[in-house]
Amino acid sequence: MYNSLNEFISALDKERELARIAEPVDPDVEICAVTDRVSKSPGGGPGLLFERPTGFDIPVAINLFGSMQRMCMALGVGTLDELAREIEELTTPKIPGGLIDTLKMLPMVNRLRDLMPKTVKDAPCQEVVRQNGTLDEFPILKCWPDDGGRYITLPLVFTRDPESGARNIGTYRMQVFDGRTTGMHWQRHKGGAQHHRVAERLGRRLPVAVALGPDPALAYSATAPMPEGLDELMLAGFLRRERVDMVKCVTVDLEVPASSQIVLEGYVDPGERRREGPFGDHTGFYSHPDDYPVFHLSCVTHRRRPIYLTTVVGIPPMEDYYLGKASERIFLPLIRKTLPEIVDMHFPAAGIFHNIVIISIDKRYPGHARKIMSACWGLGQLMFSKTVIVVDKDVDVQNEAEVAWIVGTHYDPERDIQFTRGPVDDLEDASDLAAYGSKMGIDATRKWPSEGFKRPWPKKIATTPAARDRAEDIWQKISRGWKP
Ligand SMILES: Cc1cc2nc3c(=O)[nH]c(=O)nc-3n(C[C@H](O)[C@H](O)[C@H](O)COP(=O)(O)O)c2cc1C
Repeated sequence: MYNSLNEFISALDKERELARIAEPVDPDVEICAVTDRVSKSPGGGPGLLFERPTGFDIPVAINLFGSMQRMCMALGVGTLDELAREIEELTTPKIPGGLIDTLKMLPMVNRLRDLMPKTVKDAPCQEVVRQNGTLDEFPILKCWPDDGGRYITLPLVFTRDPESGARNIGTYRMQVFDGRTTGMHWQRHKGGAQHHRVAERLGRRLPVAVALGPDPALAYSATAPMPEGLDELMLAGFLRRERVDMVKCVTVDLEVPASSQIVLEGYVDPGERRREGPFGDHTGFYSHPDDYPVFHLSCVTHRRRPIYLTTVVGIPPMEDYYLGKASERIFLPLIRKTLPEIVDMHFPAAGIFHNIVIISIDKRYPGHARKIMSACWGLGQLMFSKTVIVVDKDVDVQNEAEVAWIVGTHYDPERDIQFTRGPVDDLEDASDLAAYGSKMGIDATRKWPSEGFKRPWPKKIATTPAARDRAEDIWQKISRGWKP
């Protein structure tokens, strides 16, 4: 695993997963345009290091998570399903049958120890400390031409619940208003917004620390939909297979990852709001301007030679698709703890995470698909699922063409669609009201007589095993000379 962004970048270099761009490229729109072009190449293109962003001597790293290969590297696994298996093992410990079994459990016990962060005194992220530092020193991107300004797009925003002290880390974009203030775009359903709500009720200032460019597993963890009250550092420690080193901030009572490249310390005042946006968002459209809390900078700390890690979002697929894919795989075994009938799930890139969620189930009783839809709409950030498609367990949900075929053939529109109303994502543009709208479930499972379906269900076409083998044999021979 990588202890810092620098180590990750070296590994990407070694694996030929990084393109270094030595010519000057402007952080004003140009870097985003190049990244977008690269993201749209097969497989998501390479990670990018802009070594000379115009006007700055701090390199910009971007698209580092923008492929399955690099997302797996970032989390130290060959495939994301390996991680899912490890989580399954950790959350389903077997009672040891003897000494050998107990010894076999030791690695898992060690991994539990890794969940707890530890505090260190010396930190690379505090090699330079400047209480009069400003944001103008960093190559923060203006992504799209009609954006309201420059945005920090991959920050780890640290807060503590003013009452319980519970820590939250979230990735919330920050629009640069001037050298010392930014917007704080934590949406109302998110952990940071809840801490701010409590602070406002108490009439208190909320200390905030923003870490930029920690090690890659940590950077991912801030985007993960951890249940409220559960520390993202636990997830990071598990993924890194090592405890996270934290250091006390200089001007606020918070801790930040010692390995970060840059740290912005500051606070958000109760009652203060400022217009934020527009922003070219991951929906592929510009988000409307809206009022959001304001972050005030009290201190900048950074490495002697920092790298600015960022991302851009836009029309999918982009880098955030792969971060979302990691969450899909990592959280599946955890969701299965309460919904064991779920076999697999998939968020297609074009569905922007919540717009289309496809789930296969081991259907056990009438109405089962509708229970799964309701469960999604009541479960953490899955509540934003605008369309939930439920299919039987024999459908490969990762194969979008197969799903389209099965949905098309298996659903009767009037009978199999379930509508409901409730909270929707803050970025939802189609609902009449902000953050409140409707959702739809499609029950594309085979219908049972106990669900009122009295006709015979049609049999799926398949040839005989012998004919299939023969066909494969002949295809192997003729396909060699055939060019599509
Ligand atoms: C690149 C990127 C940018 C994001 N920007 C925002 C944002 O501006 N506001 C927001 O509320 N969520 C944003 N998110 C989603 C949150 O990071 C995500 O919902 C996370 O789980 C929030 O953490 P929390 O549950 O601790 O609040 C972004 C995610 C990614 C990958």
